[in-house]
This record gives sequence, structure tokens and C-alpha cells, in this order.
Amino acid sequence: MQMTDLLAKKRDGGSLSTEEIDFMIQGYTRGTIPDYQMSAMCMAILLRGMDDREILDMTMSMMHSGETLDLSPIRGVKADKHSTGGVGDKTSLVLCPMVAATGLKIAKMSGRGLGHTGGTIDKLESFPGFSTAISEETFFQNVNDIGIAIMGQTADLVPADKKIYALRDVTGTVPSIPLIVSSIMSKKLASGADVIVLDVKCGDGAFMKTEAEARKLAEGLTRVGRLAGRKCAAVITDMDQPLGYTVGNALEVREALAVLHGEKKGELLELCLTLGSLMLVEAGVAWSVEEAKLELMKTIEDGSALWKLAQMVRAQGGNERAVYDPALLPRAKIQKEVPAPAAGYVSHIKAEQVGLVSMHLGGGRATKEDTIDLSVGVVLRKKVGDRVEAGESLGTIHASDEERADKAVKLLQSCYELSAEPVKKPSFIKAIVR
Ligand code: URA
Repeated sequence: MQMTDLLAKKRDGGSLSTEEIDFMIQGYTRGTIPDYQMSAMCMAILLRGMDDREILDMTMSMMHSGETLDLSPIRGVKADKHSTGGVGDKTSLVLCPMVAATGLKIAKMSGRGLGHTGGTIDKLESFPGFSTAISEETFFQNVNDIGIAIMGQTADLVPADKKIYALRDVTGTVPSIPLIVSSIMSKKLASGADVIVLDVKCGDGAFMKTEAEARKLAEGLTRVGRLAGRKCAAVITDMDQPLGYTVGNALEVREALAVLHGEKKGELLELCLTLGSLMLVEAGVAWSVEEAKLELMKTIEDGSALWKLAQMVRAQGGNERAVYDPALLPRAKIQKEVPAPAAGYVSHIKAEQVGLVSMHLGGGRATKEDTIDLSVGVVLRKKVGDRVEAGESLGTIHASDEERADKAVKLLQSCYELSAEPVKKPSFIKAIVR
């Protein structure tokens, strides 16, 4: 088989066979196919697309390019969730303990943040002492004993994706639905869960700018998940502003704890109830989404979700008292309010730029090697649709030095767009794809 033939076939709109796709993915992973040919293939796929069979074949070939996690030593139904990437997305911190408290098993591998998006592992490390660098044996044991564990990626999962994603990043081929679906689903399938729910972000701060594109992606992801034998559902959510009210690691943990303590309602809780209810229904432990939502709410009302989080924090070496006393979490030295330059209604908050403000304060990484300050970030006081008076606070900057705080005040101001006319609050959950 020759890669040049496969390139010509895809260029002319043909469909690649299972063997051809496997030849290409395994060859590229091993280094027998060079970057320039794989770049051309990514562009041909972006322009010509792939049918469902090709996308599934590509996903499965990528999944088998490295190790896969066998979760069979864990008893019960294993559930996992994935978000296509957002700013202020602390969903896992609330969702995973709630779902574990209902009896489903959460055996989750998570990543660190890079650029303007945060990572669950960094957020969890806000609990003093908490470590996600646990052995696979401890991981399995914790899930069997307490129902939940979150670890950093240790196994060499999907090396094909690491190489292909790096190439796509520099060849203008990130926004291709077949490439995104195979990238995300190969990793999710390799992580071994029986039930996978996906949060597909849509809007300014997301890969998919429109609801129609997000729907296509959600349908592609769930179709591949089902064809691969997993239970799968997706939710399309708004990313035209950050999720919730905080961006920055310890600040996001505080917001998640407020939801788990039952002190805070709003879009974060709504999203967790929606994703969690889909998990319970797909797992076959609830008959309807409504019944599942009631069951999940009960885990907040009776404190069992908080208790699950506390158990996980303790089992992974962290100070579980911080779950009940957020004052024990890292706190930045400096807090500065961000005054509104004029009166009006908030019409838009540039999500990606808010992520960059947190990064400027030291809360995010420019490169994988950077160390981050867990205490810094942004608390938003106003969201889209809110009325604001001139000089009233739009948000609070949490910083470790004056100079960066002052610059962040200006940067956050420029993230806000105000309108003289009243603005309708956007609907946060746009659609459910099952
Ligand atoms: N997230 C991924 O893991 N891969 C993509 O291609 C896009 C988002």
C-alpha cells in the first residue's frame, strides 16, 4: 500500500477502506509515514469529509495505537464525561461526586490546563496535598472502595492523537468534524467507561461557533460511541460567556463547593443535573431524565455528594477538611474590583479572553512545563443579560502582585460588551443529543 494512493483517493472524494485507514494511522504513529503526507491527508479529510464507517475505523485504529485501560476489575457500571473545552468549566468537580453518590462508578483520567482552558487536575490540586499521580492499582482500589477516583494520564493512551493533533494545530486542520470526533472518541474509548456523556460547547469561546456545527459534532461523537458499543449521549451548551462565575483553579473549586453545599443554583448546577441524568438513564439505573435529576438533587440535599468528594480527596492524600471549609484553599493576596466603564446591559463576555486574563495572572500555562499559581483568577459579578451601572463592579481580580492585578483590571474590562438596550439572558442548554 502507498500513502500517495490514499492521498489521491481522498483528494478526489473517495472513501478509504478499513485497511487503508489502519495503514495510515499505524504508519504515522510509528514514523514510517512522514508529517508532510499526514498533513496533506488531514487537509484532504477537512475538505472532503469522511463517512460514518471511515470515522469509526479511524477512531478504532487511533484507539489501538497505544495502551487502553481495562476497567473490568471495577465492579458496576463505569461512567465518564468529556467536555470539548471551555473557560470556567468546573463541571467534573460537581458532577463526578454527585454521580458517584448515586452508585455509578467514576474512574476518570483527566488532564492539566493549557492556554486559556483549565484542567480538572490543576483544580483538584487546590486541595492541599491532593495528588492525581496515583498507581493504577490504587486507582482501581479507590473506585471499588469509594466509587470515585480521578487520576492523571499515566498509560500511553492514543499516541496517534498526540502526533496528529500537534500536526493539525499547525496546518489549519483542527476544525474538521471527522478529525475532532476520532481524536476525542479514541481517547474516551481507550479510557474504558461503559457510559460516556459529552458536553459539546458552542459559541465564541468554543471550536464550534454555531449551534448547527455543534449539533453535527455531537451527533458524530455519539454515533461513534454507540457503534463502538458504548452508551453515549451529548449536551450542547453555550460558550458565548464563561461557565458560571469563576475562572481560576481554587476559585473554581470554591464555586463547585458552593453548588455541592446547596448554596448556589444556576447554570453550573443545571448542567451537572443534565449530564448526570443522562449518565443515569444511559446506565439503565433511572427510567427518565426527570427521575434521575431528582435522585441527583438528593445527593446535594443529604450531603452525600460532598461526602463522596471528601472521601476522594482524603484517599488521594488531600486535606478533606477543605471540602467543608473552603477557607483552607489557596487564596490570592490581592483582590481588585473591575469597574464598569459605562452603564448598560451586558451583551457579551469574551470567554476565551477571560481565560487569557487568568493566564496573565499566572493561573494558566503557556507551555506544558509552566508552573501555575492556583490562587489567582477572576470572579465575575455580572453575566450576559445583567444590568450594570457606571463604576459598578463587573468582576473581581484575584492576583499575587499589584502590577499584574492592574493590567488584569483593564483586560477584564475589555472582555465585556455593553448594550444600551436590555439583553435577554441566553439559554444555556441548547440541545440534548441521544
Ligand atoms: N479536543 C480533542 O481532544 N481533540 C480535538 O480534535 C478537539 C478537541
